Amino acid sequence: MDHFELRDGSLHAEDVPLAAIAAAAGTPTYVYSTATIERHARVFREALAGLQDPLIAFAVKANPNKAVLATLAKAGLGADVVSGGELARALAAGVPADRIVFSGVGKTADEMAQALRAGIFQFNLESEPEAETLSAVAVSLGKVAPVAFRVNPDVDAGTHAKISTGGSEDKFGVPISRAMHAYARAAELPGLLIQGVAVHIGSQLTDLSPSRAAFVRIGSLIAELRAAGHAIATADLGGGLGVPYDAAKPLPPSPAVYGEMVRDVTAGWEVRLVFEPGRVIVGNAGVLLTRVVRVKQGETQPFVIVDAAMNDLLRPSLYDAWHEIRAVAPTGERFTATIVGPICESGDTFAKRREMDKVEEGDLVVFLTAGAYGATMASTYNSRGLTPEVMVSGNDWAIVRARQTVESLISADSLPAWLEKEPV
Ligand code: LLP
Repeated sequence: MDHFELRDGSLHAEDVPLAAIAAAAGTPTYVYSTATIERHARVFREALAGLQDPLIAFAVKANPNKAVLATLAKAGLGADVVSGGELARALAAGVPADRIVFSGVGKTADEMAQALRAGIFQFNLESEPEAETLSAVAVSLGKVAPVAFRVNPDVDAGTHAKISTGGSEDKFGVPISRAMHAYARAAELPGLLIQGVAVHIGSQLTDLSPSRAAFVRIGSLIAELRAAGHAIATADLGGGLGVPYDAAKPLPPSPAVYGEMVRDVTAGWEVRLVFEPGRVIVGNAGVLLTRVVRVKQGETQPFVIVDAAMNDLLRPSLYDAWHEIRAVAPTGERFTATIVGPICESGDTFAKRREMDKVEEGDLVVFLTAGAYGATMASTYNSRGLTPEVMVSGNDWAIVRARQTVESLISADSLPAWLEKEPV
């Protein structure tokens, strides 16, 4: 459920007409709904009712805007970060350090030191060499790093290949066959305190059986680790729960059904569970608001050219992702068109031959479910400044990231001395 609805024939974000935001902030612009974000945080927490003090660490990569993180921090969520930058953002937004977990295969010694100084809840280690480095960094700072190994359970997540992470050919985690060895080695390292196990098999999961299979393997591993003398107090089950993008497809499992599965599989584990949801918290809390630059008739179909492009919302070109497209002020007429951006490559296509609200030059259009992996994956390709972000709460709204100006883009470049010398 989200808070983007038609009222009096025009699409609103909560109580604010999207047309008013477009008039004031320009297009393209991301628009987020606070009520939707808060609702999803609440629904996810309620789905985990009965578990012992679960830590819900929002996957910052899904939407790192400070206002989004601050909204979630207020709702009691922690953060799952994968870089020093994300860690700094989470802390700046008010996420307490003891609710932060640090994932990722390539943490550098500097990033480790930053996280150790902040005093985060847990490092999810992805390899034995990483454990060695973290121990050395911790010792040099006079600290002990609380760690879990992210274990690669070798299951097929059944999602898009580019967002599958739990197969033996994927770069993530310690292969489950090597896990006992990795823990034995880590237990000898002076700068580490082993506290748990972690797993994450992929994103946009629409079937719970791969997760269940992975968690069952983690449960057996916990028993084995304990038998070998390791104190396992936490189990991080990652993120990955899918969201509905295309109304014609079956609904993905709800958080409640996911929670039921988790309670069932983890009964008797006696650990504090950690979750790293991203998409399910913010996915449908955001839309990308854009304006039709022109409609041009191709040989076989109309092309709707909008002022948003693949640099603003990369998902359709990168993963062939489906985002619902709606007119902000639909007339009731429909047509079939291909929706593209202005960038000079054919991949800059949001939807091919899509049946959608009929739109004309100047009309406003939204791409729905753009709150996760939208603005965060934007680039400045074709010298397009980064898209602004707007947050709505009730009838109030604010720009929470300003549009990047072309001047600021250009001024980030500099000329080397040999080009500065002689004016051309
Ligand atoms: N934890 C870890 C270790 C992850 O790698 C991810 C996502 C998450 C949690 C959050 O997963 P979520 O609950 O959001 O599914 N750019 C892609 C998605 C990449 C996901 C990467 N990892 C997309 O636009 O579909």
